[in-house]
Amino acid sequence: MNLKLAVVIMAAGKGTRLKSSRPKVLHEIGGKPLLRHVIAAAGQVVDPAHIFVVVGHQAERVKAAVAATGVRFVEQTDPRGTGHAIQCAREAVIGYEHILVLSGDVPLIRPETISQLWQFHLAEHAAMTILTAAPEDPTGYGRVLRKSTDGPEVDAIVEQKALTLEQQTVREINSGIYAFKTAPLFKHLGKLTANNAHAELYLTDMAGLLCSAQERVVAFELAGAGKGTAPAAEVLGANTIAELAALDATLRAATANRLMAAGVTIFRPETCVIDADVEVAPDTVIEPFVQLLGATRIGAECLIRSYTVVENCTLGNQVLLRQSCILSESTVADGAKIGPFAHLRPGSQIGEEVHIGNFVETKKARLDKGAKAGHLAYLGDAEVGEGSNIGAGVITCNYDGVHKHTTRIGKGVFVGSDSTLVAPIAVEDGAYIGAGSCITKDVPAGALAVARARQFSKEGWVAARRARQASQDQKASIPVSGNRHLP
Ligand code: UD1
Ligand code: CA
Repeated sequence: MNLKLAVVIMAAGKGTRLKSSRPKVLHEIGGKPLLRHVIAAAGQVVDPAHIFVVVGHQAERVKAAVAATGVRFVEQTDPRGTGHAIQCAREAVIGYEHILVLSGDVPLIRPETISQLWQFHLAEHAAMTILTAAPEDPTGYGRVLRKSTDGPEVDAIVEQKALTLEQQTVREINSGIYAFKTAPLFKHLGKLTANNAHAELYLTDMAGLLCSAQERVVAFELAGAGKGTAPAAEVLGANTIAELAALDATLRAATANRLMAAGVTIFRPETCVIDADVEVAPDTVIEPFVQLLGATRIGAECLIRSYTVVENCTLGNQVLLRQSCILSESTVADGAKIGPFAHLRPGSQIGEEVHIGNFVETKKARLDKGAKAGHLAYLGDAEVGEGSNIGAGVITCNYDGVHKHTTRIGKGVFVGSDSTLVAPIAVEDGAYIGAGSCITKDVPAGALAVARARQFSKEGWVAARRARQASQDQKASIPVSGNRHLP
């Protein structure tokens, strides 16, 4: 079987320059590991079954992080350079006519650019096509030496450390992204030597080797700007923490621009942390210093006020999140009002027009339409029916030290302030609970439950006590004559 095209993503390196115990390709920008960005882009061009990720350093950890994408893996135990990485992929991809090689640490690459590179490679009938760019500062990158200034043909790629003084003026960089015809590639790949500064097998040396073998090597220079990103930003790599931070900033700026272009208002977008996959509908307003993370989806005409953090949540339309709320793994329906200082923990389902006020914490709690918990409550493993009111300081006692239990509150229930509901327990529709109650038995529909010590008032008690105290004080102050030590 002769297959047309596979993608190989090199992700086996250690990332020594990051000085981190985490493999480089699992460092995150825009809330996602570098490698996930590259796989997502490649997945727009070929089916994941034709994407081969070369893993080596902490291979199991890298595989586990991207296994769900459906890509395949190639092992490069004992990584000895980018050329060695492709040698290790030989078996897996030899049956394809061409391969596209991507770097796991060049994460902003767009699918459109990968497709353009592929088309250019085919049109040029090249054995090797190098994706290049000309950034302001090319320091650190391999430089591409063209045969002439006006043609696509390339003589060689020279790594930064091997550049002559004259070559240092070349601004055209190697992006680490290539297309190869597999037959000539694997015919000559064994000729690589580790005769260089890092004693590694450089894939970049294939440019010179293929040229010497009379094969066609060309450069495809990245021309325009990507969506909201500066030209060349798309192919910048991340070798240090500072470079990661720069790519993260570029990606987040692009995400904010994408949302604003779709009708979302973001005040001071540079202060907001918005992950790459977040979706927000038009006419929603996001105030400064908001964080929207993970797979968060926000509807239209919402207002997200400052210092609120939302992670992996789905919000409907016209939701108000006041300042300093934390929401994770939860859903909020249309017209709900939350905060300030509310904490929605995983599994909270906030219904339409529900009000969750300040210092209220919910966890695995479902509040139906119009329910209210205005102040200082804890609702864990709880259901609160339509229109019920949870007073200030109410607590569902869901944990007995071993197991979690459920509290079920029906429709139109009034739970007085500072009550504790000891689960498992049910409070049926329309019931009333007196403030300060400790409820340990189910409350029938429409009943009043009061479970607190009965109050008594002693009339005149304060005046009597004062009089008693005054007379004691007077006796104590009379001087004692004679022997002070006698009783
Ligand atoms: C490489 C290029 C350089 C180019 C730059 C673009 C070489 C020799 N140099 O340099 O010309 O300008 O990328 O970003 O290729 N990897 C493996 N196995 C290995 C070594 C590396 O899979 O044995 C992977 C790494 O995990 C990384 C990618 O290959 O994702 C690139 O390796 P890296 O060491 O970062 O190369 P650079 O020095 O950046
Ligand atoms: Ca790199």
